[in-house]
Amino acid sequence: MAFSSTSTLPIFILVIIFLGTTTANFYNEFDITWGDGRGKVLNADQLTLSLDQSSGSGFESRNEYLFGQIDMQLKLVPGNSAGTVTAYYLSSKGSNWDEIDFEFLGNLSGDPYILHTNVFSQGKGNREQQFYLWFDPTSDFHTYSILWNPQRIIFSVDGTPIREFKNAESMGVPFPKNQPMRIHSSLWNADDWATRGGLVKTDWSKAPFTASYRNFKADACVVASGKSSCGGSASSGGNQAWLSEELDNTKQERLRWVQNNYMIYNYCADSKRFPQGFPPQCKMA
Ligand SMILES: *[C@@H]1O[C@H](CO)[C@@H](O)[C@H](O)[C@H]1NC(C)=O
Repeated sequence: MAFSSTSTLPIFILVIIFLGTTTANFYNEFDITWGDGRGKVLNADQLTLSLDQSSGSGFESRNEYLFGQIDMQLKLVPGNSAGTVTAYYLSSKGSNWDEIDFEFLGNLSGDPYILHTNVFSQGKGNREQQFYLWFDPTSDFHTYSILWNPQRIIFSVDGTPIREFKNAESMGVPFPKNQPMRIHSSLWNADDWATRGGLVKTDWSKAPFTASYRNFKADACVVASGKSSCGGSASSGGNQAWLSEELDNTKQERLRWVQNNYMIYNYCADSKRFPQGFPPQCKMA
């Protein structure tokens, strides 16, 4: 289709409007919820959380989401981060809550972080998978993504899927699909269990510990006053392909590569924990 000179301007304006709906502004999108000044929005596109011996800190999104493709770049606590946990997750409220978790367990300098993941539906979790990363997550920003649509939840790191949790309602497993969730993050101390199962304690002489966030992007359905409105990215022409997206062959191969080489714990392979048999969703391909 050819554009006449008179149609160019409206199209230009339309593109700006699409960008405006998907470009992050930390001031508009998030509230620092605790930590007494230890969490800081540095500018429209950068936020930091910190932790010292008296407190950690945290933030949450103003929006509530019901499905989305949600990307955030994080740079984790560098150096000796043993005993620290940086949690980045989606969660609804109430006793039957849904939750989709990334948790980064710190370590001694040079020793690997563990990326811990979990999915809760109707208040029930116990679906942990843990990974090492194929890079140092403290030396630069990397993108951690959650694709959440009615069929599946896909956790990705720099575009590489590391975990897929499929909708297994047909097997009687509740799937998060009715409760809007907020994005949350917090940096806190868990040296009773986080590093080598609690053997390595936090070295408070290295405090404050700081994690950084930037480039938040959400193509998502935002729920407000009981109504849901779904957005699409400018790069995808405003479409909502993510609402039905699944892993193509290339991505499935990447997923297998991560699971074969970097996965260090999988609840679906922990037969000691499930002597009566694995949960039904473990039987899904
Ligand atoms: C920390 O490093 C040790 C030794 O390499 C490793 O066993 C452990 O999995 C690492 N991560 C955490 C969070 O404990």
